Amino acid sequence: MEKKMYIELIKKVLIDLHRIGRTEYKPLYSNNKRWMVKLLISVDSLIRKKDFAICRVIRSSYENRAEGIDWPANADSMIGLKRLDNIEYCINKIIDDKIAGDFIETGVWRGGATIFMKAVLKINNINDKIIWLADSFEGLPKPNEKKYTADKNDSHHLKSELVVTLEQVRSNFENYDLLDDNIKFLKGWFKDTLPTAPIEKLSLLRLDGDMYESTIDALNNLYPKLSKGGFVIIDDWGPVEGCKQAVNDYRKDHGITEKIEQIDWSGVYWRKD
Ligand SMILES: C[S@@+](CC[C@H](N)C(=O)[O-])C[C@H]1O[C@@H](n2cnc3c(N)ncnc32)[C@H](O)[C@@H]1O
Repeated sequence: MEKKMYIELIKKVLIDLHRIGRTEYKPLYSNNKRWMVKLLISVDSLIRKKDFAICRVIRSSYENRAEGIDWPANADSMIGLKRLDNIEYCINKIIDDKIAGDFIETGVWRGGATIFMKAVLKINNINDKIIWLADSFEGLPKPNEKKYTADKNDSHHLKSELVVTLEQVRSNFENYDLLDDNIKFLKGWFKDTLPTAPIEKLSLLRLDGDMYESTIDALNNLYPKLSKGGFVIIDDWGPVEGCKQAVNDYRKDHGITEKIEQIDWSGVYWRKD
């Protein structure tokens, strides 16, 4: 009973579902090109010295947060309730079926999904699995359009809202009392960090890197390390065409035929046979 209560509460807190209906205030992000916003940003930087700020007012709804549609102003994850439920489902199967291997998320933002993984492991007294957090901690890379045509015109790298530092993510873990030596950070672009990452075996591979390049780099380097009975979760299958294409290309090239299961409008997963 306590276990279920802890897990359900932590899900709510991670996506600010316990504060739903209250107004959220988002900073103005500098990738917005409109002159009015630029002007407001200049004023904002001045008045911040006096502890005032100009913000956007956001009214979150239960539906948006359950589906992970909006990017929350304060919450530690943007993936929504259904994708958190999916992580819990996969981990429970991994525990029940004793599947060997660590967990990784490629693309952690404020760390919410990985904080949740740790919470589920901790409440189940599982202390021998490492959770790897792979991220630039500087946002997304500029598209390499020559190599990956599917990323042509991708603008994720302009979104400063997606920049969260490693120190911030570490401190988010601390705030939930979930930071320990089994939380390991892989800082840098996936193409640089993943080929040499000292990961032996994985049982949960969660991809949330938004682009073709980010998705294919993760699959190329990590899928071969996924144990039989392990899960791969693709967060951006629905909204990012390049991500879907990378997954389809990888599956085709490697003869992967396991059925793709839908989680919600955005996420899918399959279990390795
Ligand atoms: C949509 S956010 C992840 C959301 C997060 N999983 C959550 O629980 O809310 C995408 C993250 O992927 C990272 N990212 C995307 N592509 C990357 C790459 N090629 N190398 C390193 N980091 C990358 C970005 O820095 C960003 O933190």
